[in-house]
Amino acid sequence: MNRPLLQIALDNLSLDDAIASLKTGVDEVVDIIECGTILIGSEGRKVIGIVRDMYPDKILCADFKIADSGSVMGAMILEGRPDLMTVICSAHISTMLAVKKEIEKRNMDTQIQVELYGHYTMDDVRLWKENGIDQVILHHSRDIKGGWNEEEISQGRKLCCAGMNVTVTGSIGFDDIRLFEGLPIYCIIAGRSIRDAKDPKAEAQRMKDEIIRIWGE
Ligand code: 5RP
Repeated sequence: MNRPLLQIALDNLSLDDAIASLKTGVDEVVDIIECGTILIGSEGRKVIGIVRDMYPDKILCADFKIADSGSVMGAMILEGRPDLMTVICSAHISTMLAVKKEIEKRNMDTQIQVELYGHYTMDDVRLWKENGIDQVILHHSRDIKGGWNEEEISQGRKLCCAGMNVTVTGSIGFDDIRLFEGLPIYCIIAGRSIRDAKDPKAEAQRMKDEIIRIWGE
């Protein structure tokens, strides 16, 4: 089982603040940099291209949770050349396929990740997979009080068993990483727990070391 990658979610309110978060040294530790929904909403899609130019060799995620108008929104996000981009699970399959078509038109390798936020069924998951979309992000809303519960973890297990490439996100800190032990998780996303730490680089390293302790190198 490969170890899960570690992704920093840049949900900063400004690009300057997002860059300051990265330049604490977090950029040297994490495997994936995410331009978060909050950052893109606050500063606009240009941030994706700016972060891409700063980090041409890092995996870059554009988390805009596209819900509709797949070709227009997809084209906008793809301008920034992300490796990963998100659509929301409630989007119609036609919207997801419109995004996919934009990627193919540009001969890009960008992967679509379906953000599991709200209602979806395992039939939906099968439909996404049949259409070549096999990445999902299991999301614990930051608005829910309390941490990850057993039901959410077992949903993660079910998605892995369904052959999906599963990323987990939402209020994950150092102590939560062990909850996912035994699951072939693709990536663990952390935002506030790294950005708001006293020493963000040290916290990112502590989380990465914990991932390596549990899953191996
Ligand atoms: C918000 C998001 C966040 O990126 C995600 O929840 C991670 O942030 P945090 O670790 O701060 O909860 O997708 O829409």
